[in-house]
Amino acid sequence: MNEEQRLNSSQVKEINPQNKEGKDYSQYFQSVYVPPNLKEAKKRGKEQVEYQHDFGIEPEFANMGIGRKFYIRTYGCQMNEHDTEVMAGIFMGLGYEPTNTVAEANVVLLNTCAIRENAENKVFGELGHLKLLKRNNPDVLIGVCGCMSQEESVVNKILKTYDQVDMIFGTHNIHRLPNILHEAYLSKEMVIEVWSKEGDVIENLPKVRRGEIKAWVNIMYGCDKFCTYCIVPYTRGKERSRRPQDIIQEVRHLAAQGYKEITLLGQNVNAYGKDLDDSSYRLGNLMDDLRLIDIERIRFTTSHPRDFDDHLISVLAKRGNLVEHVHLPVQSGSTSMLKLMARKYSREQYLELVQKIKYAIPNVALTTDIIVGFPNETEEQFEETMSLYREVGFEMAYTYIYSPRDGTPAAKMEDNVPMEVKKDRLQRLNNLVNQFALEAMERYNGEVVEVLVEGESKKNPDVLAGYTRTSKLVNFVGPKDIIGKRVLIKINQTKTWSLYGELIEVLSGQEVGVI
Ligand code: 5AD
Ligand code: SF4
Repeated sequence: MNEEQRLNSSQVKEINPQNKEGKDYSQYFQSVYVPPNLKEAKKRGKEQVEYQHDFGIEPEFANMGIGRKFYIRTYGCQMNEHDTEVMAGIFMGLGYEPTNTVAEANVVLLNTCAIRENAENKVFGELGHLKLLKRNNPDVLIGVCGCMSQEESVVNKILKTYDQVDMIFGTHNIHRLPNILHEAYLSKEMVIEVWSKEGDVIENLPKVRRGEIKAWVNIMYGCDKFCTYCIVPYTRGKERSRRPQDIIQEVRHLAAQGYKEITLLGQNVNAYGKDLDDSSYRLGNLMDDLRLIDIERIRFTTSHPRDFDDHLISVLAKRGNLVEHVHLPVQSGSTSMLKLMARKYSREQYLELVQKIKYAIPNVALTTDIIVGFPNETEEQFEETMSLYREVGFEMAYTYIYSPRDGTPAAKMEDNVPMEVKKDRLQRLNNLVNQFALEAMERYNGEVVEVLVEGESKKNPDVLAGYTRTSKLVNFVGPKDIIGKRVLIKINQTKTWSLYGELIEVLSGQEVGVI
């Protein structure tokens, strides 16, 4: 979105152009208060996505962080985790140092999640705690960013109730962090910069990655699916794919730096490429190109069944560094529920897709997301979800009670399902999930699996931990110098969420595609 479109779509208010000493800094402040608007966000513009390659720290901001520390708390999904890595990169570029302690920080950022009400409540709770910090140290800057900042109701609530907050900025404004910090230092009032829709693709953003073994790579931003319960298309804007050459180059760089596993990220990765000029280049093509890069493992998340095409399946069947784990959110096993959710597939179509994937990739691990207690869900419809779960034989699922999100179509639906019934359904579903998870683990007993060793086990530093290609946690005893390597482990003990085994062999790096 260019400056003009941004200003046209939003009300503009100038913030206090006086700094604390009363000096006029008005040239810095144009268009700061741009309130987010869900109705606006739903309109998908036809404007070309702009690809900006020129991100850099402006000289006037270069020393802003010298002698200062930043702390970022991240809520929600991997996309947010990765955005935090980008913001950390920008902070470091400005000369700030990281800290793990809120009390030590000069800037505290909450990178928020809006997907369910309880995620939002956690953030409001944390903001409450930060009031005390601000009282004791008025110079600390407190910021709210991420998906909650894109919601009008949240911005209004913060403006009204949480005056300890110094800045709010949206998911499309991350690259503007230096300017936002600069304004926050000069202003007495809350600095708000939330571009309400669309968004561009900014390349060359600095990143401080959390690990040295696994890395996330965005392949696309936004979502155009508008499932009726979901806030994401409003908070993350329209689907914008990064160009293949930029993604391939990033993965090559990561391989050269010694990273072993890449997870490609997008809200709906199967729509990758639909918005690109070469409309025939899709996720299957990208995976086919990426698998030639010398890196041990490549995964992707999250898939939408609707766009999961045959070409992608045939590419995944080539295995090599493409792992045999597909996370395929189904949400419900009832066709009528799926229709109300606007998922755009039926139970039968989902099962057909699963059959195709299983046929092409024997031993594939399928995992999913499920929502129970969508408005007016009947016992029969819920039972259809349970029976679909058994039929597919998922190995793991993230399960949720439906949470109404302001501004989404489902939030306007009347709902006759009492909360006790929803909780009971979640419990029954979770029992099934645990049972199937344990059964999936038991199948590994006595098998030899490939594990990418990530480090010491969180529970016991004498034990090493890593994951299989199918994303199963494996613990075993071994020397510390194999951290970062792939090893073969013979499994001799199984639990619902972890496996235990014995080190058989350290792989040299040539053998790919062992389960
Ligand atoms: N309520 C409950 N769960 C939701 N999800 C998305 N929106 C909602 C909501 N309003 C779940 C879906 C999605 C996952 C990331 O979060 O299952 O796949
Ligand atoms: Fe939300 Fe995923 Fe549906 Fe997009 S595809 S609207 S992110 S649930």
